[in-house]
Amino acid sequence: MVKICCIGAGYVGGPTMAVIALKCPSIEVVVVDISVPRITAWNSDHLPIYEPGLDEVVKECRGKNLFFSTEVEKHVSEADIVFVSVNTPTKTQGLGAGKAADLTYWESAARMIAEVSKSDKIVVEKSTVPVKTAEAIEKILTHNSKGINFQILSNPEFLAEGTAIVDLFNPDRVLIGGRETPGGEKAVKALKDVYANWVPEERIICTNLWSAELSKLAANAFLAQRISSVNAMSALCEATGADVSEVAHAVGKDTRIGPKFLNASVGFGGSCFQKDILNLVYICECNGLPEVANYWKQVIKVNDYQKTRFVNRVVASMFNTVSGKKVAILGFAFKKDTGDTRETPAIDVCKGLLGDKAMLSIYDPQVTEDQIRRDLAMNKFDWDHPSHLQPVSPTAIKSLSVVWDAYDATRDAHAVCILTEWDEFRSLDYQRIYDNMQKPAFLFDGRNVVDAKKLREIGFIVYSIGKPL
Ligand code: NAD
Ligand code: UGA
Repeated sequence: MVKICCIGAGYVGGPTMAVIALKCPSIEVVVVDISVPRITAWNSDHLPIYEPGLDEVVKECRGKNLFFSTEVEKHVSEADIVFVSVNTPTKTQGLGAGKAADLTYWESAARMIAEVSKSDKIVVEKSTVPVKTAEAIEKILTHNSKGINFQILSNPEFLAEGTAIVDLFNPDRVLIGGRETPGGEKAVKALKDVYANWVPEERIICTNLWSAELSKLAANAFLAQRISSVNAMSALCEATGADVSEVAHAVGKDTRIGPKFLNASVGFGGSCFQKDILNLVYICECNGLPEVANYWKQVIKVNDYQKTRFVNRVVASMFNTVSGKKVAILGFAFKKDTGDTRETPAIDVCKGLLGDKAMLSIYDPQVTEDQIRRDLAMNKFDWDHPSHLQPVSPTAIKSLSVVWDAYDATRDAHAVCILTEWDEFRSLDYQRIYDNMQKPAFLFDGRNVVDAKKLREIGFIVYSIGKPL
């Protein structure tokens, strides 16, 4: 029986390994983490992350060939294949602060693998890492290896949160990068055999290590760039009377462009797009390519601009002040069908409105009050000026409320801001909401989910992204 151990039981490690266990009953999969609460949650009925379909997969395999454990060293030493799926955030201090990936967790995992291993292993980079990381990992492993053979593979993950299980069941592609040596090719084949249990062979792409590492950064950069492109157009639409949905539809009909991922929004969020582009920017700068670096930096600048633009529009349309006015925030997660709030645009929007002394009432079906308060209390780290932390006023945080119902959030409010595209926001009883709001009742749709025409008939003043008033 092949034994797999995955270091890091997060948004990637947990779902990815659960699906491998489901699709490969003859493989034993152990997911390990240093976080005791996380592992306890993975072993309970309340998994640490909300992801449609995940509960069913975990229930099916847990205790059979899928295990979650904090005994990191034991399971690493017993494994044939070790996936490393630890977090790789942006560095906030020191060389490259604000851009470079912080590989502290990765390096400590690699050193631990070298120390506890007693047999040959394939070590798989699952985390998103800068191109050439495998070379550094290889050095750490081989210089500490005591004669053990390690093969490093790059196998970046392309799942999106909210659709992780569907994405893992039916991936567009699986990418495996390895050394072009007999040992490297053997390792690539071993990993390919795992995926071949459910992924058609033509969708498993094998490349050299650096292409695989860079393709992951490139894919996220291209995806984020599409959103910044359509968001940049949304500003022009608002200025000219064009409708961004119509423009996106017309543009996306060109088969060379394609229709997906062209929804204008308040801005993209999530733990990866900004981090991975900044990482790409840093790599370009280090390689003497400032023009290329600036090109990608602009994707993030437009995203920041879009979030600021949203806040300014709210304040400007409400007679230039929201001071003391109740503003309902519908949705806090960075996208629907997840409880994840990392880099959610809601943080910037809420902070912007709190800065103008608004009284916020926040509702999200999957995000806890604790999480919202923690996110808003945290000083904002500015990637462009990493030495400046923008402080948050504790009184402003105290003044906001977090509620468990959209109707509660909107009662007596002057304005509603929709910041996440949860399906339930499409079918709320907007007449009831309008009746219970202050007048004029403003609605700012940061995700273009409501039928603006119908809401205007009710009496709302509606501002959508990139659409005529
Ligand atoms: P996460 O923060 O949810 O999980 C990482 C886990 O690793 C944490 O639980 C942490 O406790 C654990 N960890 C850190 N150091 C450890 C160590 N030395 N030993 C054991 N456990 C350790 O992160 P994530 O969202 O799962 O992302 C992981 C990586 O995958 C990142 O590089 C990210 O860029 C990439 N990625 C994420 C997504 C996504 O949708 N979140 C998608 C594709 C790729
Ligand atoms: C993204 C990529 O889609 C995954 O392929 C990748 O594996 C992952 O990053 C990663 O490396 O972490 P994720 O961030 O989970 O996945 O979710 P997306 O669906 O890509 O959405 C990201 C953000 O863009 C969200 O805030 C979403 O609301 C926003 N978005 C997305 C738009 O504003 N418009 C769109 O048309 C699409």
